Amino acid sequence: MYNIAVLPGDGIGVEIVPEAIKALKAVAEKFGHEFKFEEALIGGAAYDAVGHPLPPETLEICKKSDAVLLGAIGGPQYDELPVHLRPEIGALLPLRKELALFSNLRPCILFPGLLQASTIKEEVIQGVDIMVIRELTGGLYFGDKYREKTLDGGEKATDILTYSTDEIERIVRFAYEVARKRRKKLCSVDKANVLESSRLWRETVSVLEKEYPDVETIHMYVDNCSMQLIRDPRQFDVIVTENMFGDILTDEASMLTGSIGMLPSASIGGEVGLYEPSHGSAPDIAGQNKANPLATILSAAMLLRYSFNMDKEAEVIEQAVTRVLEEGYRTGDLLSCSDSGGKEIKVLGTREMGDVIVEKIMLL
Ligand code: IPM
Ligand code: MG
Repeated sequence: MYNIAVLPGDGIGVEIVPEAIKALKAVAEKFGHEFKFEEALIGGAAYDAVGHPLPPETLEICKKSDAVLLGAIGGPQYDELPVHLRPEIGALLPLRKELALFSNLRPCILFPGLLQASTIKEEVIQGVDIMVIRELTGGLYFGDKYREKTLDGGEKATDILTYSTDEIERIVRFAYEVARKRRKKLCSVDKANVLESSRLWRETVSVLEKEYPDVETIHMYVDNCSMQLIRDPRQFDVIVTENMFGDILTDEASMLTGSIGMLPSASIGGEVGLYEPSHGSAPDIAGQNKANPLATILSAAMLLRYSFNMDKEAEVIEQAVTRVLEEGYRTGDLLSCSDSGGKEIKVLGTREMGDVIVEKIMLL
């Protein structure tokens, strides 16, 4: 029996998480597993209910679970709160830190059925399969932040960016191990021409490189990488990078897959893994049954693979997604003007997309 902590959060989080649970229940039924789900509050929803975005009970439930499934957090109504009570800095970042999840995996895979859904030309993205590994508990997002008054009556704001050799080594080693099981190419992304932390990053990778002679290592500046991802994304196999660069590059890379609604993530490294879509709470479409649940459903597949060692089960979910897209089922975010070419497109709501995935899981 496996315990899964469920944190729907805010906005579309409460709509997409139930669809991933449906998929997990279908897998449990098909393979004879027992999953127990325990729901807890996080983000704005937790702030509204109990006055803090990460209540101690939530953290407790996560820590004693076998894995955590999260929806999304945040919303415009929380943007004016004191910084420590905002969903991002008050809940999501501390949750990642508390669970020691230094390694964030974001697989950017183009499902064949979505070749025409991307805004990028088909010949550029056909066959894209990139694993971006983002360092998740260090760097700028966790450094000291403060403001000072200046003599001219203005203010000065500071964010500290720190990385230690240890922190770089553990994420880069992890990335090498992943690359070994894939196409054996590692691209380390930094800004070593300007930043000291990036120079340490590059030096550290250059030392480790010698331990992995079977993996081809290249170093790339982050600005160049953001351009190369659009110019020729198939040159990439595994990308490893620091926290903020990984945050930005993965939003960009998600468009190679058609929509940010397709990008799942796994955060691992501690005892309990956290699985969440890479997108946000999308307040503009929240509550309308319009959100794409596939990134969350694919995050549930990653949960099975990385926390429960259930490869077959994870593949069934991924296969179900592949088939459903091939059959022309879409949520609104996956529609594009060129999309209708040839096949009949069926636009579904969040719940209906969850239903066809469950049907497929049971049929496969
Ligand atoms: C992500 C998100 C978060 C991050 C925000 C919500 C704090 O953008 O998971 O990519 O920056 O890590
Ligand atoms: Mg982000």
